[in-house]
Amino acid sequence: MPFPGGFTWGAATSAYQVEGSTKADGRGVSIWDTFAAQPGHIRDGRTGDPAADHYRRWEQDLDLMKELGLKSYRFSIAWPRIIPLGTGEVNQKGIDFYRRLIEGLLAREITPAITLYHWDLPQPLQDVGGWTSRKTAEAFAAYADILFTAFGDVDADWFTINEPKTTAFEGYGFGVHAPGVQSSIAAGAAVHHQLLAHGLAVRRFRASGAKGRIGIALNLMPVYAIDAAATQATLFTDGAENRLFLDAVLLGKYPTDAIGGLPGQFDIGATAFDGNVLPGDLDIISSKCDYLAVQYYGVAGIDANGSQVEIHPISRATWQQIYPQGLFDLLTRIKRDYPRIPLIITENGMPDPTADHTVDDPYRVTFLREHFQQASRAIAAGVPLEGYYVWSLLDNFEWAEGYTQRFGIVAVDFATQKRTPKKSAALLTSVIRANAVSRG
Ligand code: FCB
Repeated sequence: MPFPGGFTWGAATSAYQVEGSTKADGRGVSIWDTFAAQPGHIRDGRTGDPAADHYRRWEQDLDLMKELGLKSYRFSIAWPRIIPLGTGEVNQKGIDFYRRLIEGLLAREITPAITLYHWDLPQPLQDVGGWTSRKTAEAFAAYADILFTAFGDVDADWFTINEPKTTAFEGYGFGVHAPGVQSSIAAGAAVHHQLLAHGLAVRRFRASGAKGRIGIALNLMPVYAIDAAATQATLFTDGAENRLFLDAVLLGKYPTDAIGGLPGQFDIGATAFDGNVLPGDLDIISSKCDYLAVQYYGVAGIDANGSQVEIHPISRATWQQIYPQGLFDLLTRIKRDYPRIPLIITENGMPDPTADHTVDDPYRVTFLREHFQQASRAIAAGVPLEGYYVWSLLDNFEWAEGYTQRFGIVAVDFATQKRTPKKSAALLTSVIRANAVSRG
C-alpha cells in the first residue's frame, strides 16, 4: 500500500520527556519540574531528570535517526531554556543548543519539525495564572517571535501548541498533569488561551517572514455510540473532544453543543467560557495554517451518560483503545467536514505492555503496520495526508506515568542510557525505504 512521493516519515519526542539536564546552561524552572517534584504526582516518583539524557546525547541520537532512515524529526523547544522567566531576558545558551540540534539535523538531511510548546510552561508564568490568564497567550507569542527570528532561516515545519486539550483537561481540569489545577472553569480558560496563543503565534510567524510552514497539533479521538440511546451524548462528546478545537482553528467558531451540563458535554458554565472570548479572538485563532497536525492514539465508545466505554482492546495506557480503522475514520471525517487543508500525523504509537526494557515488540510492529495501512487507505480516498511521525523515537518520561510506560521504537536502558532499536524501528525503516506498507 503506497504513500505519495516526498511523504514525510519521522519520529517525535518532546523536550521535557527526553532532554534531562533541567538545570543546565541557565534553563529556568517549568511547571513539570515543580509538579513532578511533589510526592504522589508521578507513578514511580521520578522526574524529567535525567529522562533520556538527550540534552547531552543529542549527537548520538541524530546519528541513530540517520541510521533509521528518518526524513524528519519532531522535537519541542523548552520555553524555560529560551526565556527562563517566561517573559523578558533571552538565554543565548538555550538558543545555541537548538541551533546545534537543527544544524545537526540539516547536516544529516533530516528536516526539523519544531514544536514551540509541549507542556513545559515556565513556572513564573504559572505563578500568575498560567493558561488561565490571557497574558500567557501574549507571552507565548513573544517567545514564538524570538524563535522565528533565531531560526527563520531554516526551512522547518513548526507546530505551535501540542495538544491544548490535554493541557486544559488533564492539567487544569482533573489536575493529574502539571500544573495540577482542578477546576473546570480553569480548564475552559486554558482551552481558549492556548488556542489564542496558537493564533497569535501564526500571525507572528507570517509577519516574521520566517521560512517553513506552521500549524497546530491537536489530539483527536473518534467516538462511537454504543447503542441508539447514546447517540446524543456521543455527539456532545465529539463536540468537547474534537469540534471544540477543530471548529475554532479551521472554521473560526466554537461549536454551540460542546459546552454545558448535558451528558457528554464539557461541563463548565457556558458563561464562564464565553467570558474569556473577546471580540476578534476567533479571527486570530483561525488565522490560516499551512497544515493541521493530527495526533491519533485511539477511540472510545460512548454510553447514554456520556461516559467512555471500552469497545476495543486497551494498551498499558488505559486511556488508549486500539482501533486502527479509527485513524481512517478520523482523517476522512476531517476531509469531509472542514475546508481542505494538508494533514500531518504528528503522533501515533503505543507503550510496551510492561515497564521493562525490551527490544522485541511484535505488538508495536503490528500496531504501526495496521495504522500505516489505514493512513494509506485514507490517502487513496483523497485525504491530503503529507507526513507521519511515530511517537516516540525513544523510551522516555511519560508524564504522570514516569518511566513506567515506554513508547519508544528505540529502547533506552535508563541505568546506562544505552539505546537499542526495537523491532518496530526496523519496521519503520523498511516502510520508509519502500515508501509503502505491506498489506498483510
Ligand atoms: C501524547 C503526548 C506525548 C506522549 C503521548 C503518549 O498525549 O503529546 O507527549 O506523552 O501522548
